[in-house]
Amino acid sequence: METENILIRRARVIDPSRQLDRVGDVLIGGGQIIATGRVAVDRIPDGCTIIDGSGLVAAPGFIDLHCHLREPGFEYKETIAAGSKAGAKGGFTTLCCMPNTDPAIDNASVVEFIHQRAREGAVVRILPIGCVTKGRKGKELAEMEELASAGAVAFSDDGDPVYDSNIMKLALAYSADLGRPISNHCQEKSLSCNGVMAEGPVATHLGLDGIPAAAEETMIARDISLAEATGGRLHVAHLSTAGSVALLREAKERGLPVTSEVCPHHLTITDSWVFGNKGAPVDVAGGMAYDTTTKVYPPLRAQTDVDALVRGLADGVIDCVATDHAPHDVISKQVTYQDASFGISVLETALGSLLQLVHGRKLSMGAMVERLTSGPARVLGESYADLASMVPGTPADIVLFDPNAEWTVDPAEFESKGKNTPLAGTTLKGRVAATFASGQMVYQGPELRFGEPRPR
Ligand code: DOR
Repeated sequence: METENILIRRARVIDPSRQLDRVGDVLIGGGQIIATGRVAVDRIPDGCTIIDGSGLVAAPGFIDLHCHLREPGFEYKETIAAGSKAGAKGGFTTLCCMPNTDPAIDNASVVEFIHQRAREGAVVRILPIGCVTKGRKGKELAEMEELASAGAVAFSDDGDPVYDSNIMKLALAYSADLGRPISNHCQEKSLSCNGVMAEGPVATHLGLDGIPAAAEETMIARDISLAEATGGRLHVAHLSTAGSVALLREAKERGLPVTSEVCPHHLTITDSWVFGNKGAPVDVAGGMAYDTTTKVYPPLRAQTDVDALVRGLADGVIDCVATDHAPHDVISKQVTYQDASFGISVLETALGSLLQLVHGRKLSMGAMVERLTSGPARVLGESYADLASMVPGTPADIVLFDPNAEWTVDPAEFESKGKNTPLAGTTLKGRVAATFASGQMVYQGPELRFGEPRPR
């Protein structure tokens, strides 16, 4: 498709695919990157739109390996079109959508349906993830080869673990041949039982059933062992505990090709947020409340876990950030904590949350961008490298963000149908000024400034 020429001038260009971090220009046209660096005036095409990038970061569009777009079956919670707009507003140009839909994405026709809906209404690239087991029931492997041929980029029964060890072993063995990872939601259900939040003092105060760290860690340990036995491609979804980071660290030190992801909420807020006062100290003698928007699986955990996850992300043990964007309808959260659905709407707050770590000097800006671009692209495999690159000739999937713009989270302004966020009313520092997908501007925020256009 023909797209206009756009020149972003004097931005901080961060392209982790070639360790580039320098102030410069980005010229795009025909849906591709034409040049980065200093674009001389006589190389600026006539009629080119000029964007003033000063004070902004220009990077490859973010890739989310884990989000729930709810189609088919749960369109009252989210649609591919609305979720894609939420992604664009959050700086994401590639969204991998999980198969806990109805019907589940367990055969080629559902993959084709996702592609069709994406062609009709999505503003960013949508890559479906296929089920590991038929109907996500955990009993019988899905037709993984059929799913891969239809375009499934990975396999997962997310929302549920692949519980049966032999099925997980077979799936990992196939994953090696198919060159696509198995993203497992690691949860030993005989340990998590009816738990609704992290096991610990907050759960005790609130009288809520706790989920022990071991529920996650025992299954990760099993999966690492199975990956070693089969040579399969294990990707561990949404790590939440310090022990999980230690398991991944040890596996990587032994050279196993296992990868993992962590979510913005597990990196920035703790189980004390379940009290509903956004992490501020609580007078537990003064009566108890809770906020169901904090209910998420895996659960928010203690500060020691948060610290270990941040360190693991910073030093590269954890390969990438994934949102686990889990939009829900209002009623699903306007119930008791026990009855509320698990999940947080994350796509539009992810960048602001992660920048807290950058501003707090716990994560470098370069590492943050890497974990949102090259990191997830590597998990998908070599053929996806171009989606995380600003090298001339690659698709012009770009995010432009202001790392210092302060804004207050108002879920009513979300593009996502899911307004369920514990961050409502909080202030974040940093947001997207514009997002380009294949050279088209698919989101324009208040921080975007145009320069003088060059006359035709
Ligand atoms: O909090 C969560 N919500 N965790 C999951 O694993 C599933 C997700 C959902 O689909 O709502």
